[in-house]
Amino acid sequence: MAKSKQQFKCSVCEGLTPKWQGQCPHCGEWNSLEPFTEIPIVRRRTEAAAPATFKTLIMSDQPRRFVSAIGEFDRVVSGGIMEGSIILLSGDPGIGKSTLALQLCKAFSKSQISVCYFSGEESPGQLGLRAKRLGFNHDGFKISSDMELNRIIAGLELEKPKIAIIDSIQTVYSPGLDSLPGSMQQIRECAAELMDCGKKNNICIIMIGHITKSGMIAGPKLLEHIVDTVLYLEGDKQHYFRILRSVKNRFGATHEIGIFEMKENGLQDIENPGDVFLSERKKGASGSVIACGMEGSRPLLVEIQALAARAAYGTPQRHASGIDPRRLQLLLAVIERKLNISVAQYDIFVNIVGGLTLKEPAMDLPVIAAICSSIRDFMIPENTVIIGEVGLTGETRSVMRIEQRVGEALRMGFNNLILPASARKKVHAENNNGNIRFIGDINDLLQTFI
Ligand code: TYD
Ligand code: MG
Repeated sequence: MAKSKQQFKCSVCEGLTPKWQGQCPHCGEWNSLEPFTEIPIVRRRTEAAAPATFKTLIMSDQPRRFVSAIGEFDRVVSGGIMEGSIILLSGDPGIGKSTLALQLCKAFSKSQISVCYFSGEESPGQLGLRAKRLGFNHDGFKISSDMELNRIIAGLELEKPKIAIIDSIQTVYSPGLDSLPGSMQQIRECAAELMDCGKKNNICIIMIGHITKSGMIAGPKLLEHIVDTVLYLEGDKQHYFRILRSVKNRFGATHEIGIFEMKENGLQDIENPGDVFLSERKKGASGSVIACGMEGSRPLLVEIQALAARAAYGTPQRHASGIDPRRLQLLLAVIERKLNISVAQYDIFVNIVGGLTLKEPAMDLPVIAAICSSIRDFMIPENTVIIGEVGLTGETRSVMRIEQRVGEALRMGFNNLILPASARKKVHAENNNGNIRFIGDINDLLQTFI
């Protein structure tokens, strides 16, 4: 028999370590390592196994979708949540998951779709206060603070709701397991049992999962490959925007986003993000450029701000928020070499206003324009939108969905467009009523303004 090896296992992330230490090297948790002896698995074929049964595909014509009438939510789940599907809604603590969940309860119960809400985090009193804030009472749906797995399942089998919300999966526990609620083992087991119950009884289960404070999403992350849909609620807590993003969707398009604003009466749809993201723009300032990013199939106009200040100390600082910091380094190198502008003497800060993150090549050209505008102190006309990727030789390149971006810019009243030369094939200036300028490289960009 193979000799079993003594190791140490983390009770939070289940990572293995050969030696004991105070902090888990995988997840950074303190005092979580426990002795663990791997028991060698003996593989033996069972003789009398029944053969697998084969089934035919079930082709139902119109699968039922539950529409919440919260426009931005329905957009992310491709028009409504699918009957019997399993959804994971994750995000940082305090970002608004429970608020969204309660708003869904309100919306569904309004349209006579039965909902059960299990909350392990807040007492019915606290939920009541929140519901009052959101402007409703919970007549239409059922709430429970029972988080013991078997009781939840028995409750669901009895009530047979169309939708069950579990807030959060980290607070559900199965007494049969000897680990604490929120541990990997508990999350895995409880989620599997709940999914099983959902599929058997055709109940759509929305599981809420926290990303833990150390940025570790191992808990909920573990569930991503088994659930049907994964939604992330994200945003800067300092800002009031929240973005609901679908990163996996078995029943529709992924990478769709919904944009909300957190107000005193809950999350409100933002149908026209351009109005909000650009509302506080200071007109006539250098270092400010409007760019158009894509989020899923949705064009978003955003303001990029750059500030170049003389560096006081040895190594100049580079700070990027909302864009990829390494891309910023690369663009600065391109500016230095191809435009002969010395960037080494400046601290450079680049920011996308409103807390959005857009890591896509279409940001290259507007970022370069914003930086040059700040260094040379010239203004970019306020009705201008700049779109395009930049290569290492300073040449401009076209980006995906350029027609759609141009359409959005014109729709929002920005009729002065600067686009890569190669976009000429797709965007015909004569068909659009804006003033479109096609540029071949970043020298042309600079000449446009000075
Ligand atoms: P919450 O939904 O409890 O977050 P999560 O479940 O993701 O941990 O959100 C709490 C935050 O939202 C809290 O900071 C207060 C704020 N909030 C509002 O601004 N308006 C509201 O109407 C509600 C209910 C919450
Ligand atoms: Mg919560």
